[in-house]
Formats: sequence, C-alpha cells, structure tokens
Amino acid sequence: VRRGGGGAGGGGEDADRANRERIRELTKKAPPRRNPVPAHFERPPLRVFTTTLWEYPSQHYGPAGAVQGDPNYVGATPSWVIWQLLQRYTREKDLVVDPMCGSGTTLDVARDLGRRGLGYDLAPSRPDIFRADARKVPLEDGKADFAFVDPPYSTHVDYSDDPRCIGKLSAGGEDGGRAYYDSMALVIGEMWRVLRVGGHAGLYVSDSFEKARAKGGNTGFMPIGFELFSILRERFEPVDVICVVRQNAKLAQGNWHKAAEEGNFFLRGFNYLFVMRKGKALGTGH
Ligand SMILES: C[S@@+](CC[C@H](N)C(=O)[O-])C[C@H]1O[C@@H](n2cnc3c(N)ncnc32)[C@H](O)[C@@H]1O
Repeated sequence: VRRGGGGAGGGGEDADRANRERIRELTKKAPPRRNPVPAHFERPPLRVFTTTLWEYPSQHYGPAGAVQGDPNYVGATPSWVIWQLLQRYTREKDLVVDPMCGSGTTLDVARDLGRRGLGYDLAPSRPDIFRADARKVPLEDGKADFAFVDPPYSTHVDYSDDPRCIGKLSAGGEDGGRAYYDSMALVIGEMWRVLRVGGHAGLYVSDSFEKARAKGGNTGFMPIGFELFSILRERFEPVDVICVVRQNAKLAQGNWHKAAEEGNFFLRGFNYLFVMRKGKALGTGH
C-alpha cells in the first residue's frame, strides 16, 4: 500500500537501485509518536464550508470515537467530505449512489443525514453494499439525486483479487494509462446515466507520482485529477473544483518527507473534489 507516497529510481539501473534502497531505508516504519492523539480529542463541530479549500483535523466527524465507514479500511474517504457534499447538494430522502462504496462511508453519512444511500462495489465489505461493477450499475436511468465516487488512484492499493478491479490498472502504465482512463470513462458514464437531470455528482481523487516510472520520456507524474475532470466535462456541467487537504498521517510514520527532499519528488498534499451537475443537454457538458 503506497497511496500518497512515491517510488524510487531515476538515472540508470545502479542509481535506480541505490535510490530505491535509500527510500526504503528512509521510509521504514518509525516507532509510534510519543504524543498520539489523546482519547478525549474533541473534533470541532462540522459546519458547511464556504471556501474551496477544505481541511478538517479528523477522518470522521461526530463525538470522539464516532466513525463512518470502517476506520481500518485502507483508502477510505474522509466522511466529512461526503457530509459537506450531501449538506449542500441533497435534501432529506434523496437517493445517494456510490458505485465504488468501499467501506460504506457514503452509506453511513447518507443515513446520518436522512438521505437514502445505495452502494455498490466489486468487493462488498458489508451486507448493505451490493456487488456490482461500477462500469455497469444495476440501476435505472435518472433514479439518483446525487452520485459520489472515490475511485482507485492508479495501483497503490490492493483492494481485492477481482481482476475487474480498476485499482489493478495503472494510470501511467505501458499503455499511457489508456485502460485506466477508459474504465473510468465508463464509471463516469454510469454515474451520469443513473442521475436525474439537475442532480449533482462528486468525484474525489488525487494525482499520483512514481519515481520508478521516471524514465525516458516519462516524468513519473500522473495527472489523474485533470484527466478525470476532462472526462467528466464530456457529459457534466462543472459546478466547482475543491482542494481537500490530506492529513497524511501514514507519511508521518516514516521519513517520507526526507525521502521526498532527497529524491526530488513531492508527496501528495491535496485531493481534488470535482463537483458536477447533470444538465439538460444530452450527455454533453459543453
Ligand atoms: C478508494 S476505494 C473507495 C473508498 C470508499 N469511498 C470508502 O470510504 O470506504 C475504491 C473502491 O473501488 C472499488 N472498485 C474498484 N474497481 C471497481 C469496479 N470496477 N466496480 C466497482 N467497484 C470497484 C474497490 O473495491 C474499492 O472498494
């Protein structure tokens, strides 16, 4: 699992190997910090944010100890991001769909806010998530009021053994990410199809970087955010682009920051949150 991190390499095989060794050494798990977050840590009350820069000091909202989704699920969406979206773009009893539901964060937030949640995943983690491929969602056209998705960002997390998992497709592979982006275009097409006209969609994603891919004409950077936004724009109307600050708690456990400085790469500091609307025009946002 390497989400948010970076690989190694660059400049010949020996340099590659040396870099990889160095980064492995630097990013070894450090001992637990001396001052872990105290059990009585009070989360600030959640209010609707008014700017396009979003930050909150916890993955979950509510009283200390409350969780939405599964806190141990690698790659879970911060629940407060979904809370912000549902507060703004949905009403009570609205149908909220998540075609890549993971640990069920979207379902829990929808329930908290009195919305109806419908979640699908290739590898359902709990009984209220239906097994389905997000490229072919078993829901009629125009039924949903809101669709949210936090897709795999390239191949950083091993979500399941299902060969159809989009997390097995690299956004910077030999094919230039073709298979990944083609699959995501199908997912986005399904989100558009199941939404009612006027319904909103949220796509939460980060760019990616792998130093091991930085060879020849490849910089190792995968601008997944901009690529997916342009795919969204083929169908949807843009509502806004939000920058969500990543907490990166895992990066603090190793010397990732030192590795980033020495290896001259950047760690991901933010996720994009694209907010879109299904307009009246037939499948085109232009
Ligand atoms: C980033 S996680 C979603 C996290 C989720 N929002 C949460 O808070 O737990 C991405 C999910 O996409 C699922 N997935 C990957 N390919 C899929 C596909 N073709 N159809 C449906 N789900 C897929 C994975 O199984 C994984 O659960």
